[in-house]
Amino acid sequence: MKTVILGSGKGTNAKAIVQAQTKQLLGNAEIIAILSDKRESGILEIAKDHNIENRYLDPGPFNSKFDEKSEQAWIETIRGYEPDLIALAGFMRILRPSFIDAFEGKILNLHPSLLPSFTGLHAINQAFDHGVKISGCTAHWVNEEVDGGKIIAQAPVRIMQGDTVEMIRRKIQGVEHMILPAVIRDLSVGSIPFPES
Ligand code: GAR
Repeated sequence: MKTVILGSGKGTNAKAIVQAQTKQLLGNAEIIAILSDKRESGILEIAKDHNIENRYLDPGPFNSKFDEKSEQAWIETIRGYEPDLIALAGFMRILRPSFIDAFEGKILNLHPSLLPSFTGLHAINQAFDHGVKISGCTAHWVNEEVDGGKIIAQAPVRIMQGDTVEMIRRKIQGVEHMILPAVIRDLSVGSIPFPES
């Protein structure tokens, strides 16, 4: 299962996936490329450290979405890898319908809340501000509704009195690092199905 990872940040989830691959815990999945919309992102360093094909691609002039021209370049580059799965691991851009259509049923996202609660940006701050006592992470298919696609897997964390946003983030990332490689492995061996087209 040829897998391309897209990310914008530190890349701790990409690292967990790559480490699972190194330990042969990723089933039939193979990480063939890691792409970032941020030139200096940790995720590209992680790819380099593990000798995985990696590229910065210009995202265009907007902060949170692609413009038409850059989107086309991203689509063409990703198509070149002929991926079976595109895993968004901290990719901080809202994908337009034209991008989603180009890879229908193949885009998996990781979100730092128990969806459908706390969609969009700053999900961990939203959970903190609401004072919820259980949060977690969600792996889900990407459709045209932001963080609204079918849920594949979730993992909970408890939020204790006195936890800071940073402490909650660390707890959530702890479960993310388990759930994302596990979902990719399960997809690659067919124990989790891809969406029906
Ligand atoms: C992860 O916590 C992921 O859930 C979140 O970004 C972080 C990336 O961390 N994604 C989103 O907020 C998407 N809306 P990482 O770069 O260390 O893997």
